[in-house]
Amino acid sequence: MSFWKRPDIVKKIQNQIDFDKIEAIRIEREGWLTSKHWSKKLQLFEKLPELESTAAEIDEFNQFADWVTVGNPELLKTSSNHQAIEKLAEELMPWRKGPFRLCGLEIDAEWRSNLKWNRIQPALGSLTDAKVLDVGCGNGYYMFRAVTQAPEMILGLDPSVPFLMQFELIQKYARRPELQYELLGAEHLSFFHELFDVVLCMGILYHQRNPLAIMRGIHDALVPGGITLIESQIIPGEESIALFPEDRYAKARNVFFVPTTSCLENWIRRSGFESVELVSVERTTTDEQRKTRWTTFESLEDFLDTNDSELTVEGHPAPLRAAFRAQKKQ
Ligand SMILES: C[S@@+](CC[C@H](N)C(=O)[O-])C[C@H]1O[C@@H](n2cnc3c(N)ncnc32)[C@H](O)[C@@H]1O
Repeated sequence: MSFWKRPDIVKKIQNQIDFDKIEAIRIEREGWLTSKHWSKKLQLFEKLPELESTAAEIDEFNQFADWVTVGNPELLKTSSNHQAIEKLAEELMPWRKGPFRLCGLEIDAEWRSNLKWNRIQPALGSLTDAKVLDVGCGNGYYMFRAVTQAPEMILGLDPSVPFLMQFELIQKYARRPELQYELLGAEHLSFFHELFDVVLCMGILYHQRNPLAIMRGIHDALVPGGITLIESQIIPGEESIALFPEDRYAKARNVFFVPTTSCLENWIRRSGFESVELVSVERTTTDEQRKTRWTTFESLEDFLDTNDSELTVEGHPAPLRAAFRAQKKQ
């Protein structure tokens, strides 16, 4: 395998998970990487320069604030190294979540995920020694942010090969053995039993056909007293209702239920959580989601009605987002 090798976290926790079921899915999904398309990109991992030191190189002192900063910029000074790193980063476009500074190469992603991190991070409390799960972790931007707080482990689940590869490119230079990415989905939460202290579930629920089953899965995967941070697109309104678009929402086909804030709160409470607390409500702006050199597709400005930025191109309410913190009963 072309990725940075480290001990397998899933094996370490095998007594608290349905290990055999997870292993079967892992073996099946490893096959996804062997397609012609992805194996070409995997070969580019082999060409990456090695780090000289074994030290983790995340910018723990937050010198670059919101950028996940890994790898020594000295590495980029040779043109062959520069080419290898930049070529692979470009091959793995689009970079939806970021920003990352990789050996000095600035990968300014479509989403400035630092803005969401800054909104939700104070609600998480200390992550030191915590077992953390990020459901639908994307390329792991938040995992790399959270790891600087010395958690015991952070497992990211996302059934996306391109995001796995982006994660592994950053991990090659971050070298954090407490971070692991699995090509699993929210539908596999039932394989984890009262294991995690903190579960992040951000930008996931409105893509799910059965958001309540996901919420219940999160509840059951948490230890008693564990915390979840649920973040979702929402629609404006006081009533406890959800928009179910006839077809697309902001040009996306895979959007099912977009709740109001009170509907989302009710989903969370009725999934068994206590002390549910609203953390933030924000309108998504082109300051947070926009085209950059690292994205290839349309972005927010293309999804909104050109005459009325309060509406999507389909005439739905324009994207708002809410985040809740909730606790499982002790
Ligand atoms: C809107 S993005 C959110 C990413 C990140 N959590 C964030 O908040 O920025 C949705 C993510 O869900 C992932 N995804 C797709 N199917 C999924 C599934 N069945 N379970 C969990 N995540 C899934 C996608 O690959 C994508 O990374």
